[in-house]
Amino acid sequence: MANTILVGAQWGDEGKGKIIDYLTDKVDMVVRSQGGANAGHTVIIGKKQYILHLIPSGILRPRKKCVIGNGVVIDAPQLVKEMTGLERKGVRLKGRFFISDCAHLVLPYHKALDAARDVSKGKKAIGTTKRGIGPAYEDKVARCGIRMGDLMKPEYFEAKLRERVKVNNAVLKALGEKPLSFAKIHAECMKAARKLAPYVTNTVVLLHKALEKKASMLFEGAQGTFLDIDHGTYPFVTSSNATSGGACTGSGVAPSRIDKVLGVMKAYTTRVGGGPLPSASDDISDMLHNMGREFGATTGRPRRCGWFDAVAVRHAVMVNGIDDMAVTNLDGLDGLDKIKVCVAYKIDGKRTNYVPSDIDSFAKCEPVYRSFPGWQTPTDKITRYKDLPLNARKYLKALAELTGTRMSIVSVGPARDQTMVV
Ligand code: IMP
Repeated sequence: MANTILVGAQWGDEGKGKIIDYLTDKVDMVVRSQGGANAGHTVIIGKKQYILHLIPSGILRPRKKCVIGNGVVIDAPQLVKEMTGLERKGVRLKGRFFISDCAHLVLPYHKALDAARDVSKGKKAIGTTKRGIGPAYEDKVARCGIRMGDLMKPEYFEAKLRERVKVNNAVLKALGEKPLSFAKIHAECMKAARKLAPYVTNTVVLLHKALEKKASMLFEGAQGTFLDIDHGTYPFVTSSNATSGGACTGSGVAPSRIDKVLGVMKAYTTRVGGGPLPSASDDISDMLHNMGREFGATTGRPRRCGWFDAVAVRHAVMVNGIDDMAVTNLDGLDGLDKIKVCVAYKIDGKRTNYVPSDIDSFAKCEPVYRSFPGWQTPTDKITRYKDLPLNARKYLKALAELTGTRMSIVSVGPARDQTMVV
């Protein structure tokens, strides 16, 4: 397979983990390049369910190599927990899992600050995952972060950590929070460092050596386009570039080495956390929650749900350069009489075909809907595109036309065999 960047075309939770798992079969390496343990990829293989937050889900295919690139922020004890969990289930990591020495660490003060700050925002809260993502990226950009490579140098790490705990305890105190214990954080980090050391390396060199040998790569995006720090619905976003450019800066693999961008989108829309969602609908939210669907893999929070928003996805197609699209969760729409699709917005009565960059204007957007007839037969057991109900195929064709993309994969459930190539 060509070197491919996979991105979420909506607000995250598009079912990327499942598509990544499916595509991993066709590549040599899977690379993660942004975000941290705020992501949650669920993969079901046979009777086993795996929820991965940091480790690329490609790790579940025995012959594939997986890389956590420099752009990821890593909670070291969380990563160790995931590695140990996988090893207990019989997944081998040695020789096929690599961690960038330039990836920044998420430390307990980042998590404490993340929670304290978001709570203090009251109704304007972003609703972060409280995984310390924003504060860790703040330190990276402010050039006072601690990197994985630093964790491998005990004396340097101790001095740096001592200084950062002192600074951040003062901030926590000002926010009315309890100070954190340096000794406890240090001991936890040292324990994690012992487990991580054999896997930490210069992943830029590793990836380039692999490219020289013609290895094919899948860059797995976390979160989604509208959570991107630059192109999302700022400030209701995450703190990294979840769009395709982030795959290059976050791995050290240049754009000229990339052949294709694949977008993943749900057949409807969901969002967790704060911020506007023009096509939100109580009807579809209630229906999906009653089916036991659309609860966050990382936080367990119910996701807000809405009709498919073609205006938003068109924006995602622009900023990511999406060639092909994978549509997931089609089966979530089974049994509906009528399915709506948002084809334009109205702002103060004026129609627009674009996502406004200003959050207040975005909050004012009213959806302009087109209706499509639904299908009454379940789709979750269907394995060939041509066997889908006619109205389901018409719906998918309309989504491709409305977003200007080629529909290449359709998914009708979480399992590997519930995936069909168009
Ligand atoms: P943070 O990334 O924890 O700072 O959260 C910022 C916003 O992004 C919040 O609205 C989160 O709910 C959302 N978010 C972060 N990661 C994910 C994800 O993997 N899926 C969906 N939403 C996410």
